[in-house]
Amino acid sequence: MTDDRISPVPRLAPPRDAPQAVTVMLEHIETSWQLARPYADDLAQHFYRLLFTLAPSARELFPVSMQADNGRVVRALLRALRLVHRPDDLVPLLKQLGRDHRKFGLRPAHYEAAGTALLGSLKHCLGPAWTPEVERAWAEAYTLVARVMQDATAQAEAEGTTPAYWTGTVAEHHRLSWDLALVRVEPDEWAVPYRAGQYLSVEVPQRPRLWRYLSPANAPRPDGSLEFHVRAVEGGWVSPAVVGHTRPGDVWTFGAPLGTLGADRESGRPVLMVGGGTGVAPLQAVVDDLGRWVDNPEVTFCYGGRHWDDLYALDQLSGLAAVNPWLTVWPVVERFDDTGPIPGVEQGTPAEAVARWGPWHEHDVLVSGPPEMIEETVAALLGTGVHPSRINYDPFLSA
Ligand SMILES: Cc1cc2nc3c(=O)[nH]c(=O)nc-3n(C[C@H](O)[C@H](O)[C@H](O)COP(=O)(O)OP(=O)(O)OC[C@H]3O[C@@H](n4cnc5c(N)ncnc54)[C@H](O)[C@@H]3O)c2cc1C
Ligand code: HEM
Repeated sequence: MTDDRISPVPRLAPPRDAPQAVTVMLEHIETSWQLARPYADDLAQHFYRLLFTLAPSARELFPVSMQADNGRVVRALLRALRLVHRPDDLVPLLKQLGRDHRKFGLRPAHYEAAGTALLGSLKHCLGPAWTPEVERAWAEAYTLVARVMQDATAQAEAEGTTPAYWTGTVAEHHRLSWDLALVRVEPDEWAVPYRAGQYLSVEVPQRPRLWRYLSPANAPRPDGSLEFHVRAVEGGWVSPAVVGHTRPGDVWTFGAPLGTLGADRESGRPVLMVGGGTGVAPLQAVVDDLGRWVDNPEVTFCYGGRHWDDLYALDQLSGLAAVNPWLTVWPVVERFDDTGPIPGVEQGTPAEAVARWGPWHEHDVLVSGPPEMIEETVAALLGTGVHPSRINYDPFLSA
């Protein structure tokens, strides 16, 4: 897996036409990051110690046990700063994160403290490699990133049209399999203003102050209800609690929507959707949204899983395909296990499947799933000649 989590391609390198100052800044950041990287755990501990000393009020934003945070915020910060040479990807995401972070009620002092803590912890890990040039590079990158987020927060506050966060009440929770649950949440006051294909930062009552991203599997509905598919990750702090202990009546909290995944009905081009795991949810939401029109581009939905049992949404998608002639569902599994080959189901990873078939260069492509699957699929698509501008997947900075 690359550490360049915002997007698998291109790798960390400034574009050839990047201004000299950006190239130099990135060189300092990258070289020093490679030196600091082996001490990432120490860096994270130092960061939080400094942050909570400089801004004690920040402590109550984080989980009671910092083990549960596991350095995710400092990792997200470092990833953002290492991507300042890719403003086309980074700036829209930072603007959305700025709106999302309104849920924390951050003040400028929090951003200042986080910047000082980050530089202080890098200095602590780098020792003599922390030169004035290296310090300037990280400080400039942090200033750029923090400014975009704070401006977006200020703009949202000035507009005054959306709350800082939304709440909803669980109306339904049932298991789709032993490790997978469907949860339907009804809005308490305001419906979350998301677009089909976006994702939300969610806090559940069983795990206060531990925010996780979840993607609604439905397009926005008149009643504002949201359907989530949550898979319990072994050893995870939040997902097993959601799958095992969520009850109707639980109140969930949501941050502002994030992400840009979506289909362009007006482009006239056919669409290839490639989804794996619960990454299929935002693509289902896009299909659900398209279902409002009779006339749609041709959509080929490649739905991948390790095993046949992983394709939990196949019945629902096949049902949609049966009534929507523009939709074709293409199931792909890595292993057939005891079942043996299943008619109509291809063997391989989604990346192998899209590389085998095609061509796809006429298509708009949407990819969603675990980071490795996105990475492999995007690489395979590029290998078959699809132009990068036609490939749409959500960049994120998460751990
Ligand atoms: C944009 C986006 C959208 C998402 N949408 C959904 C969704 O709709 N439904 C859903 O169930 N999840 C979704 N996720 C994943 C979700 O946000 C959490 O990361 C996941 O539920 C694990 O959280 P946790 O607290 O249980 O595990 P953590 O406590 O965060 O992690 C525990 C351990 O498990 C590892 N781990 C974390 N996630 C995975 C994984 N997926 N597979 C294997 N190991 C893992 C971690 O590296 C860590 O070692 C989405 C993630 C992103 C980035
Ligand atoms: C300056 C730029 C910042 C960026 C790019 C950024 C980015 C992010 C991202 C991507 C996440 C989600 C992480 C995940 O789920 O894996 C996150 C969560 C969070 N951020 Fe920020 N953030 C910034 C500043 C801050 C500041 C200044 C604070 C407070 C001092 C803060 C507090 C938090 C908290 C409390 C969480 C939730 C942590 C958890 O659930 O464990 N962030 N941030």
